[in-house]
Amino acid sequence: MDRMVEIVGIAGSLRQGSFNRALLRAASAVMPDGAKLSILPIDDVPLYNGDVERAEGVPEAVAALKTGVERAAGLVLATPEYNGGIPGVLKNAIDWMSRPPDDIPRVFHGKPVALMGATPGGLGTTLSQTGWLQILRTLRMRVWVEKGPFYVSGAGKLFDASGLSDAELRERLRNYMAAFVEHVGRA
Ligand code: FNR
Repeated sequence: MDRMVEIVGIAGSLRQGSFNRALLRAASAVMPDGAKLSILPIDDVPLYNGDVERAEGVPEAVAALKTGVERAAGLVLATPEYNGGIPGVLKNAIDWMSRPPDDIPRVFHGKPVALMGATPGGLGTTLSQTGWLQILRTLRMRVWVEKGPFYVSGAGKLFDASGLSDAELRERLRNYMAAFVEHVGRA
């Protein structure tokens, strides 16, 4: 049997009812056979502080994120958009994960990364996802763009209390994840 393709996902929101968390959860439920998407939490990541890093090294929650991404065949970021840009909590987590810089190659370099994002607004996190490109490129990740972008607008109508409720979006997500898994398998 072929090896399982292990993908990890990080949602850029701490909100219990987050559309982006729900989107990632829905993605994990529609993964193709032979692949799995595990969600890595950023809830326990403190604000980056260079003094803390110097005194104590990276926090446990950050070390776990780094290991999770390093071991995975690919990364999915589900990002909100705040004020026309990227959300601070996710940037903070990525910043911590890039410490110490000697670890950047093993955690980030060449790692395939897929972007997605949900908003109740009409522009589908366009600006946020564009903002992420600059950061992911700096970390020398391999940003997957063949089937993107994956924008979700009007999220209020597509999710309910139990998660993604829209069949069309679920199918779009299924196709996106299948294509990413295929890409990762080729990488
Ligand atoms: C927002 N929101 C928002 N939406 C958008 O499409 N473009 C934007 O620029 C902004 N700006 C913004 C700023 C701030 C400070 C907040 C709190 C919110 C709305 C945002 O998309 C909405 O809160 C989402 O529900 C956030 O994602 P989660 O938490 O549902 O995953």
